[in-house]
Amino acid sequence: MCGIVGYVGSKAAAPLLIAGLKRLEYRGYDSAGVSLLNGGAQVQTRKAKGKIAMLEEAVGGSPVTGTTGIAHTRWATHGPPNECNAHPHHDCTDEIAVVHNGIIENYSTLRKRLIEKGHTFRSETDTEVLAHLIEEAFDGNLEDAVMDALRLVEGTYGIAVLSTRDPGKIVAARKGSPLLIGVGEGEYFVASDVAAILQYTREVIYLDDGEVAVVTTDGYSVCDLKARPVGKGISRIEWDLDQIEKGGYDHFMLKEIFEQPQTIENTMRGRLVVEEGYAKLGGLNITREELQNIDNMIITACGTSWHSGLIGELMIEEYARIRVETEYASEFRYRNPIVDPNTLCVVISQSGETADTLAAMREAKERGARTLGLVNVVGSTIAREDDGGVYLLAGPEIGVASTKAFTSQVVALALLMLTFARRRDMSASRGREIAQAMVKLPEQIQEILEDAPTIEIIAEQFKDATNFLYLGRGYNFPVALEGALKLKEISYIHAEGYPAAEMKHGPIALIDENMPVVFIAPHDSVFEKIVSNIQEVKARGGRSIVITSRDEPALEGLIDFEIRIPETLEMLYPILTVIPLQLLSYYIAAKRGLDVDQPRNLAKSVTVE
Ligand code: AGP
Ligand code: GLU
Repeated sequence: MCGIVGYVGSKAAAPLLIAGLKRLEYRGYDSAGVSLLNGGAQVQTRKAKGKIAMLEEAVGGSPVTGTTGIAHTRWATHGPPNECNAHPHHDCTDEIAVVHNGIIENYSTLRKRLIEKGHTFRSETDTEVLAHLIEEAFDGNLEDAVMDALRLVEGTYGIAVLSTRDPGKIVAARKGSPLLIGVGEGEYFVASDVAAILQYTREVIYLDDGEVAVVTTDGYSVCDLKARPVGKGISRIEWDLDQIEKGGYDHFMLKEIFEQPQTIENTMRGRLVVEEGYAKLGGLNITREELQNIDNMIITACGTSWHSGLIGELMIEEYARIRVETEYASEFRYRNPIVDPNTLCVVISQSGETADTLAAMREAKERGARTLGLVNVVGSTIAREDDGGVYLLAGPEIGVASTKAFTSQVVALALLMLTFARRRDMSASRGREIAQAMVKLPEQIQEILEDAPTIEIIAEQFKDATNFLYLGRGYNFPVALEGALKLKEISYIHAEGYPAAEMKHGPIALIDENMPVVFIAPHDSVFEKIVSNIQEVKARGGRSIVITSRDEPALEGLIDFEIRIPETLEMLYPILTVIPLQLLSYYIAAKRGLDVDQPRNLAKSVTVE
């Protein structure tokens, strides 16, 4: 969840590392630190609690020099976020520095053993055992010591290590946490995310689990934990720098919300065949026969991606008539699910690195299912380990609250549904009708975005509320969950999403004049039903905000605020109804003066269990 950056070259490393950390700040941001080699006997380390700007200040006040360095932005798992627990961590004599992403599960046993051997610990982190283990094993060569240390470790890690006793070198290793090497001219980088180094190079080598890399100014080499060389190919990053910059918007989240007409277009381009009413998905890696044999699907994901999975389930069951079960990846991985060779496991992840989702995919594979990844980040672990995949092509998503990835996921699921349904029993004309409606979505989203000032006015009215209820039915029930998640993530207002009819089985007790209730009520097959639920809220004095799609006499005098969206097919409404909810939570959080892009306690990519 943290960010790692390392540099070996001829330039001053500190500014490069801090610039890299700033690009990674969205991945973890409770504290940060940097260590450099400057020819002295000790590594030079500076740390600070809080954001990278605080570290920058610390380095400004007490500069560090050198052309080899590592840096880290932390998302605490063991020990509170403070300067002492910030990485890098040292050995007893300050000759080794380690940055780490992940969790060392057997750290307490290792720590006890190391203390018995005379090591002195300075932090509460699990990470610090790595520095002492490497110190124990060191015999003149850093990579050998790192490999010896890692053989004793259980858990997950992406690490970068340097030492004054083997200078001019960074040793990096991964197991369960992403890490890559950036190849520049006479300079090399180590990073947990391409965003950190895109400014300097587009050529990268993705490390796989169990690999160790040694990076010096002369080049790099990769081997396994038994020191056997591994050949690695270089990949080229196609993202542009302006995609990871704010481009005039106040926050990445707002920029990403406004990008959606374009991003969903990118998800569809070259795939949706409108006239024939089907989708061409090149990366499925599945024969026609295998596709026809699939008789059940498991969709697994976390958070927002799980919400898109729920929508996918409804689409696929309705049109492709395949049984689908959507499950939290964190639950799926620890039960005894029924999986057979005719099961397709669809794994949805923006980052492609979520630990629970990755573990669920591996579990499904192990049990004989085919796996299919719907992933945004190209080259991410899930994308590399799945049997087939559909890239979302939404471009980098930096805001911690996921927005454009969600709409692209729903579009990708609609494409997947068309692929399956048209090979089963969906007619060309039905397929065409859906495809034609999909083509209109970018323009329809644009229309909703143009209404952002109305949503901002509504946000002003409700910015001080302490609770929110989101209600929807059918395809819009997952949207209610997503709307509530967006609000709580960035505004810290308690919010719950419910199927509208379930309100009367409990949550209705909460309704009074202080409780705003957001209804997602476009004109679909359950509209009339939801009007009754709106009545029930009105009767109890609740205030309603209703997202709907046409003038409706039934709503007159009944609702407090209306947000209008264009009409589409029932299964596609979530792609439109979610947009005002994203904007509502954005404006509420911004008006409360909160850090929209980096909300407290969260991190963009959850690479720990
Ligand atoms: C969404 O706003 C969240 N921050 C979070 O729920 C996220 O969707 C979840 O952690 C899954 O991430 P992934 O799509 O990268 O796997
Ligand atoms: N487990 C380590 C810690 O708590 C690493 C956390 C991270 O990934 O940032 O310090």
